Amino acid sequence: MKKPENHILVIFGASGDLTKRKLIPALFDLYEQNLLPEKFAVLGASRTELSDEDFRKKADEFLPSAKETTEFKKFLFYEPVTPTEPDDFKKLKVRLENLAEEKNIDPNYIFYLSTPPSVYESIAQNLTEQKLSKSEKYFRRIIVEKPFGSDLDSARNLNKNLLHCFDENQVYRIDHYLGKESVQNMLVTRFANGIFEPLWNRNFVERVEVTSAESLGVEGRGGYYENSGALRDMLQNHLLQLVGFIAMEPPVVIEADAIRNEIVKVFQSLRPITEGQVPDFVVRGQYIASTIKGGQVKGYREEQGVDPNSRTETFVAVKFYIDNWRWGGVPFYIRTGKKLPARVTEIVIHFKQVPHHLFNNMGIAGPVDNQLVIRIQPDEGILLKFRMKTPGAGFQVQTVNMDFHYSDLAEIRLPSAYERLLLDCMQGDATLYSRGDAVEEAWKFVQPILNAWENNPNIPVYGYPAGTWGPENSDKLIESGEWRYPCKNLSDDGTYCEL
Ligand code: BG6
Repeated sequence: MKKPENHILVIFGASGDLTKRKLIPALFDLYEQNLLPEKFAVLGASRTELSDEDFRKKADEFLPSAKETTEFKKFLFYEPVTPTEPDDFKKLKVRLENLAEEKNIDPNYIFYLSTPPSVYESIAQNLTEQKLSKSEKYFRRIIVEKPFGSDLDSARNLNKNLLHCFDENQVYRIDHYLGKESVQNMLVTRFANGIFEPLWNRNFVERVEVTSAESLGVEGRGGYYENSGALRDMLQNHLLQLVGFIAMEPPVVIEADAIRNEIVKVFQSLRPITEGQVPDFVVRGQYIASTIKGGQVKGYREEQGVDPNSRTETFVAVKFYIDNWRWGGVPFYIRTGKKLPARVTEIVIHFKQVPHHLFNNMGIAGPVDNQLVIRIQPDEGILLKFRMKTPGAGFQVQTVNMDFHYSDLAEIRLPSAYERLLLDCMQGDATLYSRGDAVEEAWKFVQPILNAWENNPNIPVYGYPAGTWGPENSDKLIESGEWRYPCKNLSDDGTYCEL
């Protein structure tokens, strides 16, 4: 693989959690695979006063202790920068110039915003004032973390303000779900095989289900989560992006704009759920205290930083339609929640049943429809459920599995989402980043739901005991059939499985 051009990566918010948990480990993985540029530096920038040496020491905490990291850490530098302080950006500019000269790096810069969103605009503005935002002879790119806005208006404003400083093709809005190998594989499954695509439409698909369950709760992020909730935190971004990949038309070529054009068309075709329809199409819930595996588990309202009367949803399920030629009339169901029984993200395509049931009175076990399960995580893979004759007398029918697990490709290592996305940005490939218009379209879809919840406090927030599959009412969203209840292992479902 071609190495990216020489550049300096500036991480704003370098003393924060994301840098620690995701960015530095991802950069180290790229380093180990020899995928970083020949000449390269990472300049950490945040309020905390640290020296280069302190920053390198901190990096030790984030790097695998069993590995030799000394050479990698020579790429790391640090400059204290307060995002709202214009003078600090003058210093930053000088530091970048010196670093580029000392290390003989071309002055190409990527700016990674891993700060609270409230300072995104001031960072962009301050970079522009220092003439650090225009790509001319050398490239300038900016990576923006989620949340990208907290509603439609704020997302529009953020887009507008960023685009005053940078051109759209310089802005990389990160959605780490698109960096997941199994999400990208959806494009290959659909468009590199002749057998799925002919069935991938309203004529053969009964309904589509997306589940993204987490077994963890808010894990010390109560303060952030209180103002977010499952709809903003997971559904508006990660899960709608998944829907974009499931539902899009074949792009003309595998290139950023071609793919992103198709995703936007899907979002533009989402049938709006009006405020009045919200109680019929959306179910929200919040986890309450319970006992899991003999241990007492707190309810959401008892978590640190959470209002004891909070109505923030930790679970949401939505039913919707995509009004276009391919999907007209096919219901889509998405659900996501915290403190559910397992950490599982998967898509289930339910195919229509056979037109005439020849074997019905001869004994049938298992689900009645064919299902294609695309497992995003864990146990990444694909599972097809179909019917076979049970050996022996008569025509007993049973459902069997045909499954592929990524883990069977033993020699292949799945790169982390951040590793893939950082490398793409370094190579100037925005295919797996969200475009501004798509982000706005996604907000347009969820905005009436937010409005309904705000304007109509009578819409219930259902409590569900931590460790269960969310409120019972979410089952009622599906008129015919039920959610698949997934297990840790892709091929298992139903009552007996390991969670
Ligand atoms: C983040 C959300 O974007 O995604 C978190 O803010 C959530 O609340 C996380 O836990 C889930 O990501 P993953 O990759 O663990 O499924």
